[in-house]
Amino acid sequence: MIRLQVDPLDPDPLAITEAAVAINAGGLVAFPTETVYGLGALALDPHAVRRIYKAKGRPSFNPVIVHVATPEGAKELVTDWPVGAERLARAFWPGPLTLVLPRASTVPNEVTAGLDSVGIRIPAHPVALALLRAAAVPVAAPSANRYTELSPTTADHVQQSLGGEVDVLLDGGPTTVGIESTVVDLTGAHPTLLRPGMISAGALSAVLGVPVKRAGPEPKGEAPRLSPGQVERHYAPRARLSILDGDSIADVRVAGERVGLILRTASVDDPKAVVIRLPDDPQGFAHGLYAALHSLDEAGCTRILVEELPRDPAWDAIRDRLERASR
Ligand code: TXA
Ligand code: MG
Repeated sequence: MIRLQVDPLDPDPLAITEAAVAINAGGLVAFPTETVYGLGALALDPHAVRRIYKAKGRPSFNPVIVHVATPEGAKELVTDWPVGAERLARAFWPGPLTLVLPRASTVPNEVTAGLDSVGIRIPAHPVALALLRAAAVPVAAPSANRYTELSPTTADHVQQSLGGEVDVLLDGGPTTVGIESTVVDLTGAHPTLLRPGMISAGALSAVLGVPVKRAGPEPKGEAPRLSPGQVERHYAPRARLSILDGDSIADVRVAGERVGLILRTASVDDPKAVVIRLPDDPQGFAHGLYAALHSLDEAGCTRILVEELPRDPAWDAIRDRLERASR
């Protein structure tokens, strides 16, 4: 693996070219986006995309997101560009939003896991954008971690998880947003939130002028319409994770285990616990969350206790990740 350090705001064109060449040669390139690091490959080449699944140890029934540099690039991958897509793209791209739209026949089954839709986004990170422009092709990229592990927010996380599998790793420092993009499905009669993210359902609704409902169990006992990849235990540290209110967390003592605590407001007087404090605002908390979980795993914690989050919808995406991780 070649690891190249790049300035996150002004990446070196030589490093970007090297990564773009690797992509076009059918290789795997890990790169920072504003959400998490992605593991990228040629989206329109089934062999290249298969390498992603193999590297991650990921079952092929999970679709991967396609990253493009421009809205025109996105339109080439779909058979329909509804007014809702135009509005959301104008409001939130480049940014942490993935649009699910009817796929064009050029998009291989390897990308969509056989679905007739494709998830697309224009990332806002200067390194990701520079790579997409230089490669001049759509780049399929799931998060650059092994299947079911925590998403990486630093190049070190990528190297620890997938070091042996990646051809080029662009190290652009820690990501800013810190959790994966919001995924919204625009293929049905109503827009549906498949995965919450830091762009909230409320913000999408405001732009679309119609409510965006969370995908969930249908009222008449039909199968739940969750985003593929949202069904399993995901976003999980190795340690067992529980969410506790501030008072309980202060009182809890876990015998015989190394305990990691992630706190916002509570204070806990336990000299044996590894304590990480995260900011008491959703942006700051999301930014630090995966790095905190990674470092508690590294510190050998077998239990992680997280202080309960505020009920405010601004915390919904973070709650989603923590609840999944606690299963
Ligand atoms: O922030 C992100 O979205 C990051 C960065 C690298 O862009 N990528 C990411 O990819 O989180 P991944 O593969 O770990 O998650 C992609 C998820 C899938 O698990 C699925 O939930 C949804 O996006 N998805 C992709 N294509 C879809 C489709 N056609 N229909 C429904 N859901 C789709
Ligand atoms: Mg992932």
